[in-house]
Amino acid sequence: MNWHKVLDNSDLKYPFISKVKAGSKIICLVGVDNEVYALAAKCPHAGADISQGWCTDGKLTCPFHRYGYDIKTGRGNPGQGDYLQTYPVAVREDGVYVGVKSIWDIFG
Ligand code: FES
Repeated sequence: MNWHKVLDNSDLKYPFISKVKAGSKIICLVGVDNEVYALAAKCPHAGADISQGWCTDGKLTCPFHRYGYDIKTGRGNPGQGDYLQTYPVAVREDGVYVGVKSIWDIFG
């Protein structure tokens, strides 16, 4: 697992949704209730930038066709049959990190 710093702690101003880069991955970072969640930024329905959406009651909603995804699990709303990839988040003393698996993790 490679950990990538994506935010300084001074930039943590809840609530927020922002698009960041973690290694080669484009991530939608969601901050609510003093927790940070990381999900893929590309909507699996038709590829919209889901970081342009909004979050209510633990669901991230895509601005294009309003599909919804659980910010903790990435699971799509019932009937959608899809999900957003999620990534681990670590809030450390010097900032917020997102973990991205590398090809070497399967040999680890
Ligand atoms: S592109 Fe996101 S719901 Fe259609």
